[in-house]
Amino acid sequence: MGDSKVTRRLAAILAADVAGYSRLMQDDDRATVARLDDCRLVFRDQVAAHQGRVESMAGDSVLAVFESAIGAVQTAIEIQKALAESNAALPDGRKMQFRIGIHLGDVIEKPDGTVYGDGVNIAARLEGLADSGGVAISSTVHDSVVRRFDARFEYLGEHVVKNIADPVRAFRVLKDSEVPAKTASNHLADREKSVQIIFKSRLLQDVLGLANAAAATDVTVLIEGESGVGKELIARHIHAQSARRNGPFVKVDCAAIPPDLFEHEFFGQSAGMSPGVTRDQAGRLENADRGTLFLDHVADMPAEVQAKLLRPLRDATFERLGDSRTRQANVRFIAATTRNLADQLTKGDFRRDLYFRLSVFPITVPPLRARPEDIPVLFAHFLAEHAAASGAQSRSLSNAQLDHLQKYDWPGNVRELRNLVERTLILSADGPLRLEDALPSTALSYPARAPLAEEQTPARGFFSAAEFEELERNNLIAALEAAGWHVAGAGGAAATLGLTAAKLRSRMKALGINRPAPDSLYARLGGNRGIATFTRELFGRAIAHPELGRFWKGRSTYGVLREERLLVAYLSSVTGGPAHYVGRDMKAAHRHLAIGAGDWEVFRSILRTTLESLSVPDRERREVIEFAESLKGDVILS
Ligand code: HEM
Repeated sequence: MGDSKVTRRLAAILAADVAGYSRLMQDDDRATVARLDDCRLVFRDQVAAHQGRVESMAGDSVLAVFESAIGAVQTAIEIQKALAESNAALPDGRKMQFRIGIHLGDVIEKPDGTVYGDGVNIAARLEGLADSGGVAISSTVHDSVVRRFDARFEYLGEHVVKNIADPVRAFRVLKDSEVPAKTASNHLADREKSVQIIFKSRLLQDVLGLANAAAATDVTVLIEGESGVGKELIARHIHAQSARRNGPFVKVDCAAIPPDLFEHEFFGQSAGMSPGVTRDQAGRLENADRGTLFLDHVADMPAEVQAKLLRPLRDATFERLGDSRTRQANVRFIAATTRNLADQLTKGDFRRDLYFRLSVFPITVPPLRARPEDIPVLFAHFLAEHAAASGAQSRSLSNAQLDHLQKYDWPGNVRELRNLVERTLILSADGPLRLEDALPSTALSYPARAPLAEEQTPARGFFSAAEFEELERNNLIAALEAAGWHVAGAGGAAATLGLTAAKLRSRMKALGINRPAPDSLYARLGGNRGIATFTRELFGRAIAHPELGRFWKGRSTYGVLREERLLVAYLSSVTGGPAHYVGRDMKAAHRHLAIGAGDWEVFRSILRTTLESLSVPDRERREVIEFAESLKGDVILS
């Protein structure tokens, strides 16, 4: 479909630039660039840590997009905190700070990630309203974060934004220093709250049992699990239960640090090492002394960085850049990965020696779809969090809605569930919970399914170039869908595929893969995954049917699988998806079969049963049936 090139979606947009360009200017140009690079590194790190995506960086300004408003605001606050630390030694007029504006709005997104829309405009205007080192947000962001956020806000009045009819109400996020200090007991409560783990399933109970056992020791722990299952929470739980609980918990996003800056970040550097560095800087390893160092996305570390990590893991010794003194940090390591490290090992992507150092005590956190008992308690928890903070009445879901949630396969896991609650509350205001509207358009309830047996090699023992291209296409589409069509960044499709973002974009371009429109029937049916599930169920019923089964008698398994794949590609392409259909037209495919009017009646009832069993909503159900009816003349022999 021609309009599938751009998509519109609700996103939190963060616009930032360095407050006061003159602060950036150092005594020589290289020092200026080094300072700016420092800022950008902090920026990239924090955006990735909160599941955002940097859309563009130009000069001293940055634009980033987030799934969740709270993630965007937390990012802004963490950025300022991190900069304040690295600024400590600089004279007042030279301290680096960002001015940040955040809006939650509709953006239009190109497949390469470029975003446009009113949201961007407003975020930029808010940025202008922020003071140096400050964060300004629009009322939509304010309303969605105020109850769940440990920060205070000041109303900045209404502001007219160019080309926007309604004035934008703006708020300022008060800095820590402007908020009355909290009591010690409050802090304690916060800390405990931050590692509260909500579950009901036996599976997670077992995971916590392992985590508690690990907490009692100082061993290195490796936490494996899909993106969004709560690996960091488990790491924090281990820290909080351990003897190191009063020490720091320091997180390093291994995927976000460029290799050439890794040593600087990790080991620190001495004064004078590079222009503009006027005092010794401790690295993250030292920052974690007497505490826990959490290495997130450890499988995404480039090879040269993997080598550098070995020594500190062995004996916790290291040297700062430009300083020959050997130092020692008393640190417990916890690593986390969304990929199977043992697999990476066999592919040669991960160092064997490092793997053995890291995997002393492995813990696997199961995906949310494997523990549906946890879905209602988690949903209730996120809702109650809102209600408690706002004084609003706690609302509950109907059984049908719960059923719907438990059938969905949650590719984004608990994080996706939390974002869903946020969206539901924004859309529902004070009325009944409009869960159906909040579900992403690809979130119609389909049970989890195994991928199609595409790896089945044809009888001749190899793939033709065209078959191979089809495999690649389907593989990229599957990865893009699982990543919500995010290409770059942690959790993006490039990372899961083990490609660079540039490489993935160029393959997408070569194969003509574009993000489908979110309101296309394709997206509403759950994308390729949803359509494949539907096809397989429909097909299974037809082949097993006493009447219809005769059409498939004597066909090889490979032939049937190929037909199923053709049907998936056909349905995907006619509903607005990115697949390529390479089969015959419907008349040519069915003419020789002599399908009668009676067969069509049976087919129609099978179609209805399938739609029913997959809880496809009414609107999509009608569209699918209508579409099938429109083909009747091509399929049956009149
Ligand atoms: C709207 C309804 C239907 C659609 C969209 C559809 C779609 C397709 C597609 C895409 C193919 C593959 C074409 C190719 O091999 O190049 C195919 C083949 C086939 N279809 Fe259908 N079909 C429909 C209804 C039916 C019905 C009602 C029957 C039988 C009761 C049927 C039986 C078959 C068989 C046996 C083949 C394999 C033909 C061969 O390879 O010689 N189809 N169909």
